[in-house]
Order: sequence, then structure tokens, then C-alpha cells
Amino acid sequence: MRFDIITVLPSLLESPFAHSILQRAQKKGLAEIHVHNLRDYASNKQKSVDDYPYGGGSGMVMQIEPFANCIEKLMAERHYDDVIYMTPDGETLNQDIANGFSSKENIVILCGHYKGIDQRIRDIFVTREISIGDYVLSGGELPAAILVDSIIRLIPGVLSDETSALSDSFQDGLLDAPIYSRPAEWRGHQVPDILLSGNEAKIAAWRHEQQLKRTLERRPDLLEDSE
Ligand code: ADE
Repeated sequence: MRFDIITVLPSLLESPFAHSILQRAQKKGLAEIHVHNLRDYASNKQKSVDDYPYGGGSGMVMQIEPFANCIEKLMAERHYDDVIYMTPDGETLNQDIANGFSSKENIVILCGHYKGIDQRIRDIFVTREISIGDYVLSGGELPAAILVDSIIRLIPGVLSDETSALSDSFQDGLLDAPIYSRPAEWRGHQVPDILLSGNEAKIAAWRHEQQLKRTLERRPDLLEDSE
């Protein structure tokens, strides 16, 4: 799967993809991440990409031209399944949305700054608008990194044990059960006996019960959604 991310701060996106699972996914050829500097697509001498808003008001607006130049160049090279704009007024990212994107081949992600981007970019090019939650960040780069991470771990072959993505919290609509490792007792705190019993059926039943309990306590909305 290929990601093309358009940003005014490319250096902000160097590190998030250079470690662990995301780095391995790229080395295995399962994910390609291309970061494009929006300023390279500005046609004025100053390489500026923002301007004052028509109608007045505070803050600057990212102009249509540099985004259009970059998106059209990419679109001339290959087909894109989606052009995603990261914005706090988009649909809130969840596991279902990440699952949906993980079967796509090529996506473009636009990172906004200042007050946002010219509405015409959204109207003409953008096919999905995604928020990572009800709070406002300084730009779309960190949200883009979060979106890409949530998708890449779902691409078949990225996680060594494929079932581990399937058993993530939210995949079955429930939060995860508590997990433990050695030692079985630490300063008087015991691992639940059932996990040491070796009885797989009983362990599976216990885990499911714990998932329900945790979800009911912490995120009852998830249980209502599945009704
Ligand atoms: N840009 C700024 N805040 C954001 C958010 N919460 N989600 C997505 N993009 C954003």
C-alpha cells in the first residue's frame, strides 16, 4: 500500500515511520510512504502557501494552487483510491475506518495548518475527511501519522502473528482483556490462576468475560453500538 502525504513540515514526518513495525512494513515492501513538501509546489518566488481569508477574519488559509499542483502531479502517475484531508471537523477515526482503508492500494493525505485549507480543495479533490478526536492540534501531520500507523498494522503480513491485529482492542467491538507475563507473583501480586491452568477453553471464556467487564465499565457506548 502506498501513502503520499502532502505537508509544509516534512521533517515532522521523518521519525514516526522510521521505527519498529512501520519501518519493518516498509522494508518488507508492504507499505511505501512518500512525503511531499507543499512549498515545492508553490509557484511564487517566496514559496508561500498561505494567504489572508476572503471576507476577513483571523488566521491564514492554505491556498488552492500548491495543493492542486501536487495532487494533480500524483494523480497523473497512478490511480488513488482516496484523497484524505486530516481535519478536526472530519469523521472521527475508529477501528472500522482503519480496517476499511487497509484494503486500499494508494492514498493521498493532506495535512492542514493555520486556519485550514481553501474549501475548494476539499470540494474538488478530497474524498474523505478524518479527525483523530475532538481537540485541535497545530497541524495535520501528527494526525496523519496516527492514521497511517492504524492502517499499516492491519495490512496482511505486517504483523508477524497476524492474529495479534485481530485480537486488538476494538477489532471485535470490545476492549482487550488484561494481560500478564512472568513472574507469576510479584510483591504479592498474583497472575490470575486461570491463566496458569493450561485449560485453553476456560482461558478463552475468562478473557471474553474480562473483555465484557472492562468494556461495560469503561466504554459502555461500544456495547450499545453493537446492539
Ligand atoms: N488537525 C488539527 N487537529 C486535528 C484533529 N483533531 N484531527 C485531524 N486533523 C487535525
